[in-house]
Amino acid sequence: MCGIVGYIGQREAWQIIVKGLKRLEYRGYDSAGVALVDQQHINHYKKTGKVSDLEAAAAGANLQGRTGIGHTRWATHGEPSDRNAHPHLSEDGRLAIVHNGIIENYGPLKEELSSRGHVFQSDTDTEVLIHLIADILAEEKTDLLEAVRIALTQVIGAYAILVTDREHPEQLIAARKGSPMVIGVGNGEYFIASDASPIIEYTRNVIYLKDREIAFINGGELLIKTIDNEVQTPYIQKLEMQLEMLEKAGYDHFMLKEIHEQPRSIRDCMRGRIYPQEGKVQLGGIKEYADKLRNAERIIIVACGTSWHAGLVGEYLIEEFARIPVGVEYASEFRYRNPIITERDIVIAISQSGETADTMAAIELAKERGATILGICNVVGSSIPRLTHGGVYTHAGPEIGVASTKAFTAQVTVLTLIAMYAAQLRGTLAQSKLVELLTSLEDIPTLVEKTLACDQATQYIAAEIKDATNAIFLGRGVGFPVALEGALKLKEISYIHAEGYPAAEMKHGPIALIDEEMPVVVIATQNSSYEKVISNIQEVKARKGRVIAIVTEGDTAVRALADYVIEIPDADEAFLPLLATIPLQLLSYHTALLRGCNVDQPRNLAKSVTVE
Ligand code: G6P
Repeated sequence: MCGIVGYIGQREAWQIIVKGLKRLEYRGYDSAGVALVDQQHINHYKKTGKVSDLEAAAAGANLQGRTGIGHTRWATHGEPSDRNAHPHLSEDGRLAIVHNGIIENYGPLKEELSSRGHVFQSDTDTEVLIHLIADILAEEKTDLLEAVRIALTQVIGAYAILVTDREHPEQLIAARKGSPMVIGVGNGEYFIASDASPIIEYTRNVIYLKDREIAFINGGELLIKTIDNEVQTPYIQKLEMQLEMLEKAGYDHFMLKEIHEQPRSIRDCMRGRIYPQEGKVQLGGIKEYADKLRNAERIIIVACGTSWHAGLVGEYLIEEFARIPVGVEYASEFRYRNPIITERDIVIAISQSGETADTMAAIELAKERGATILGICNVVGSSIPRLTHGGVYTHAGPEIGVASTKAFTAQVTVLTLIAMYAAQLRGTLAQSKLVELLTSLEDIPTLVEKTLACDQATQYIAAEIKDATNAIFLGRGVGFPVALEGALKLKEISYIHAEGYPAAEMKHGPIALIDEEMPVVVIATQNSSYEKVISNIQEVKARKGRVIAIVTEGDTAVRALADYVIEIPDADEAFLPLLATIPLQLLSYHTALLRGCNVDQPRNLAKSVTVE
């Protein structure tokens, strides 16, 4: 949450920072700001709203400076306002800071600083930190690097920060703990950001700053040390991301582009991992833990949001194929319970961003208690893959739309592979069954491609439901998590209240809501619960609900009952989520568009939730 960008070098910083902040807007977009160091002055500009609002507000101002820091915010402490937007300055205007994360002990620190005469301009925790740094700088008669280091030893919480000093335009300080930070190394210039997307067009050489590290750039030289004052050797990596991955490629929105990328992303996710003719799955990132998986007494999946829904699909598949009991937990609840975890448990943490604070805390807890932790992440080099023992990347490529689409299907693909891999290790599926399943799985990207042809049908249905205030999504078996995900998509981008329910549970509550206005989206494909779902549809129709059914190609029975049908290709039931999710993504997209919503940046949300 919150995106930060910094630049120091020979170019003008403003353009680089503003362009970078636009790439990071998925992390938060309620206000933005930039500070530029120019001739021993810090000029700073802050504005409520998007980065483009900041640009408009700063037009005509002095935007010169070859050192600068910028921020796009998702408010935690203090409402979104110009005053609370970052950067924040020290009282004398000498220092400026941008910050991503939360300073948990900002209350006592603020009290202490106030008692010593500090006056604060904002309600943020961040301003407290820059006052603390300035205070140490004055009191200890030390240099800025040391003042930042000492201040960080007093801070509890998570942070990624950038600090500039008008007395030293040739210096820039970055530090992190619990929030991501990447340093792009150019030719005598440095680009620093919350992820690599603002950096990629300038350099491919990057350093992922580690927790509790401080980077000090001084006159073109980079020094990295820990908060405990130990000098570190920087490890420069090559970025593999392509610039085109960060652009809309002719689509109106990132979300639509990402929906259409799914045949490719699912294929990339399976590449080199499945051998259908041999009935074999190979997962290099977890093979070291094959014995643990073979002997696991239980698997606990921890995740948040859409990733949690993928976890529910994983529960069905792992139990079905590998016969290991699985529990799926919201990371935020798990971390604050006193969960029973043993050394024979495997915890699978799922996270698109690899930065979700609650998921990270759940991992730490399970690790302390001796479990083996495996990760399923999309962002290479993010924090979660570093916390886990082993893991499998989803390889979906950068996902920019805040509502997750291709990352979800890639997570489900990885979970499908893990379920089959565990089955192969434990001998719970016959070899011939593995051959059959993997052969159909290999065909899924082609079927996803075919499924995308439902775009027109979803557009039509979106026009019919766009004025609804509520919607229900129903499914059974693996169709249930699909229903949950469909409801989440609709509510997060179109702001229509939507609930996902197991179809049979409808009778225990939601049926009371059904009237002729209420769209009821039902996953009604031909699988083991088909007949039961038909009965559920009849119950909805009997109460005059409007049924939108996702059906298997050629279906006639549901077509006769439903108001609208969307066909998807036939496939093994286990792979249903990979197909049935697609029309729901498109339905939400078109509904949100018709309602005039900002599809890629829905209100109040952020893609990477680095605060609990
Ligand atoms: C936010 C995002 C969701 C995402 C969830 C978990 O709410 O908007 O799209 O599913 O966080 O994020 P993660 O990166 O851990 O999958």
